[in-house]
Amino acid sequence: MEEAADTVPPSLRRSSLPGWPRASEPELVRHYTWLSQRNFGIDTGFYPLGSCTMKHNPRINERIVQLPGIDRIHPLQPEHQIQGLLAIFYEMQEMLEICAGMDQVTLQPVAGAQGEFTAIRCIQEYHRSNGENHRDKVIVPDSAHGTNPASAAMCGYDIIEIPSAEDGRIDLDALRAAVGEDTAAMMITNPSTLGIFEPEIAEAAEIVHTAGGQMYYDGANFNAILGKTDPGRMGFDAVHYNLHKTFSQPHGGGGPGSGPIGVKSHLAEFLPSPLVDRQEVEDGGATGDGYRYFWKTPENTIGKVQQWHGNAGAVVRAWAFYRRYGRELELMSEHAVLNANYLRHQIMNPDSETLAGIEVMPVDGAPTDVVKHEFTLSMQPLKESTGVTGKDVAKRLLDYGYMSPTLYFPMIVPECLMIEPTETESREVLDKFADDFLAILAEDPELVSTAPHSTDVRRVDEVWAARNLILRHPGSE
Ligand SMILES: Cc1ncc(COP(=O)(O)O)c(C=O)c1O
Repeated sequence: MEEAADTVPPSLRRSSLPGWPRASEPELVRHYTWLSQRNFGIDTGFYPLGSCTMKHNPRINERIVQLPGIDRIHPLQPEHQIQGLLAIFYEMQEMLEICAGMDQVTLQPVAGAQGEFTAIRCIQEYHRSNGENHRDKVIVPDSAHGTNPASAAMCGYDIIEIPSAEDGRIDLDALRAAVGEDTAAMMITNPSTLGIFEPEIAEAAEIVHTAGGQMYYDGANFNAILGKTDPGRMGFDAVHYNLHKTFSQPHGGGGPGSGPIGVKSHLAEFLPSPLVDRQEVEDGGATGDGYRYFWKTPENTIGKVQQWHGNAGAVVRAWAFYRRYGRELELMSEHAVLNANYLRHQIMNPDSETLAGIEVMPVDGAPTDVVKHEFTLSMQPLKESTGVTGKDVAKRLLDYGYMSPTLYFPMIVPECLMIEPTETESREVLDKFADDFLAILAEDPELVSTAPHSTDVRRVDEVWAARNLILRHPGSE
């Protein structure tokens, strides 16, 4: 050790010990427990954040990801030493391909947004390889998540936004008017961010394909249709999956994400590298399933979009989730849709006296019609009659011990609250939430518009916070 220290020039050596804090185990436990209690998570309460699909994170996933054969390996290890992990990756690729009706999946992107970027880059290379570089427009509906136009813009595309029809669904006439020789792709999620399934999606795909464009499926809402239908069948060419939503990987403050993408065969040669492939072997292979697994580089790859092979731990957790449920994953979608409809019905109960405070986005005109996994409520009538805004209601829900629903998105719904109950929530939890929600609408407007009253931090100046980022802890130098 001394010899090694001697190789450091004296001017660069420490003259005193570093001032690291020293703490006993109880102090350390207290510190981290305190930190964990300052956060609200799916493990602390009901988390109805629309579009974000806050899933329960089964603890068995954590046990599996911590097995030594997974936890203690390094991305640079040679293939023959990591056959088990490669087999898991391969199985995940295959499972995701089957459930989305795609031909090839890559697990590399680490967020839905990065998946969007990656797939749009593949589409761009596809057009270039066909000599169609002039296709420079990407079409998105006005209900799209902001990451869709942002990802396309990052690839250098101009964005064309088309208005939704009055019932919130895609307006095929507006789409027909928007497509042309310059169309590179359309990006859309189905069910939409209003929680509404687009029954005319195959027709939309035909319009875009006839114009020479590609169809991109934003898979953030896949939770609602998994096992029931798939984007391949709807006419999509590329899709991203949010393993941190549909497949139970923790997200938000809880863990790193994973946004694999799947594509139809004509786009597969452009996927990022490496993918996992396998070959039959006579000796049964290291995993005993008759295969040897290896990394493969697609022929005209766009390159890497992430270091190593993506978030391997997130992939393994999602694999554990899928292995636990198998074909029964379909039940998960059924429960997600059931919970959303049940809660929507409880809140929109026609007998409720507070109903005048809220409005739903019309679904075929009637408030009792069926939505998918999430629904939107407009607080506009409440605002007009009492001055209480959607934001006020969202803040007041914090006092009742809930995470606020998604607020002011999609922007086509005035004073929007977007609610997505986790599919594992019980009927009692949903009933209680509906009661509390309706109770808030009937409360003294002053009480609601000054909420939250019980949290450590009250209202923050969000614009100031966004413009004046403090990226270091005040205690650090
Ligand atoms: C509809 C939709 N699309 C895309 C995304 C982006 O996914 P990610 O947060 O994994 O980047 C989200 C995220 O909430 C979403 O709701």
